[in-house]
Amino acid sequence: MTRAEHDLILIVDFGSQVTQLIARRLRESGVYCEIHPFNALDDAKVREAAPKGIILSGGPASVHDAGSPRAPQAVFELGVPVLGICYGQQVMVEQLGGKVESGHHREFGRAFLTIEEAHPLFEGLADVGSSELVWMSHGDRVTAVPEGFHVIGASTGAPQGAMADDSRHFYAVQFHPEVHHTPNGARILKNFTRGICGLSGDWTMAAYRDEAIARIREQVGDRQVICGLSGGVDSSVAAVLIHEAIGDQLTCVFVDHGLMRMGEADEVVELFKNHYNIPLIHAEEQDLFINALEGVSDPEVKRKTIGKLFIDVFQKYADQIDGAEFLAQGTLYPDVIESVSFTGGPSVTIKSHHNVGGLPEKMGLKLVEPLRELFKDEVRALGRELGLPDAFVGRHPFPGPGLAIRCPGEITREKLDILRKADAVYLDQIRKHGLYDEIWQAFAALLPVRTVGVMGDGRTYDYALALRAVTSVDGMTADWYRFDHDFLAETSTRIINEVEGVNRVAYDITSKPPGTIEWE
Ligand code: XMP
Repeated sequence: MTRAEHDLILIVDFGSQVTQLIARRLRESGVYCEIHPFNALDDAKVREAAPKGIILSGGPASVHDAGSPRAPQAVFELGVPVLGICYGQQVMVEQLGGKVESGHHREFGRAFLTIEEAHPLFEGLADVGSSELVWMSHGDRVTAVPEGFHVIGASTGAPQGAMADDSRHFYAVQFHPEVHHTPNGARILKNFTRGICGLSGDWTMAAYRDEAIARIREQVGDRQVICGLSGGVDSSVAAVLIHEAIGDQLTCVFVDHGLMRMGEADEVVELFKNHYNIPLIHAEEQDLFINALEGVSDPEVKRKTIGKLFIDVFQKYADQIDGAEFLAQGTLYPDVIESVSFTGGPSVTIKSHHNVGGLPEKMGLKLVEPLRELFKDEVRALGRELGLPDAFVGRHPFPGPGLAIRCPGEITREKLDILRKADAVYLDQIRKHGLYDEIWQAFAALLPVRTVGVMGDGRTYDYALALRAVTSVDGMTADWYRFDHDFLAETSTRIINEVEGVNRVAYDITSKPPGTIEWE
């Protein structure tokens, strides 16, 4: 386990889709933590980690399933505080001699937890007898707490919704304090880590930066690294961080796949080559990508085609750099979580993100991914820490496969051209109205349908365009942005007047879930 001088909270992952959010909330309060899958831990490893506290995550299993996950027994023998969340509560109950019942009282979504007792875990929350809004997601529930425990909070579906054994410092909740839908959840986690476990909250972005630099130096030594630069915040922050660590042992490769937004390629070259003086290869491979995508309309095939070509192109340029042994990527937590669980636990594939999954053996390059454990807004904080301009780190995310996944159906140069122009007008509108920083991500998608319109005295038969704008905290959930109607009217008029080939504009009012942010 890598860790500098910080006290550690060990998060035992049972495979929940939101385990990463526990880490997120802890870090926000300056607490250093590590997530480890339950099946990669044993008693010896738990002891060796010497955590100051342990959190057991939620997970998809039922404790009654044959072979369902358990926590290493050392978790309960170390003498440090333990907090169980959802499945983590049930595991704790099962392992310590209480009772869990299956199936009859499913509870999903909003629920109210009545505070039954003034307790350090609930410091700063509602008074005894009042309720707290919490977010539940469980099929099983605890029906008898283990000896030594008592109930400190209850909901209708989970009468033992929060429990504590104050002498052993074991605590557990059925709800998920780590999600934003539990408004005081972060406070509960902070009460546990800072209050009950006594951590000082000394983990900051400045500390992360120094540790990341030290780790990069240790991993790379005096060897050469190439970095795939996309122009987005993530790969840019990764590049500047790595450059700070190893200087000109880093060469950036900017693959221009012809799927960039208007003017983006020039901006990237200007910023990195001229402003930062980072060695940069501008790989102009537009034809290679666009030709390979000809006739492809399936989103997963698009993503995989682009992902594979990226690797090929990197290989080609890596071969030209003497002694390049490492490939750096700006892979983030959310990139990882929907493809494979970060910690190797079970998780469903929603989309194949092109920049995860490791490199094929044939490339013979090792990965440097210094942002792999960070969420988007942490990457922004790190970027600021590294001196990147605010306007740059505040840029909306842009996906690796670029405009290809904003052009449902088959891609053509003509369609990409129309999309680029429309997207530029849309973003110009957003900036002009001072809305850019309020919105997490905004873009246009060109739809594979033509619609009939009338302009002047003539009939038009042109493409329909969808506008998307979302608010989000981490890209894992999102809501559509409420533009005022005048803004939408002005934007639609501008796009149709200024962009030949579009005669209809629609606004996407789907949240995530059930939609995703990108259209493909
Ligand atoms: P979805 O569409 O899955 O997107 O809701 C969540 C966030 O991830 C971005 N995204 C990607 N980023 N490579 C990336 O680097 C990808 O393949 C990719 N696909 C989606 C998306 O723009 C949004 O911010």
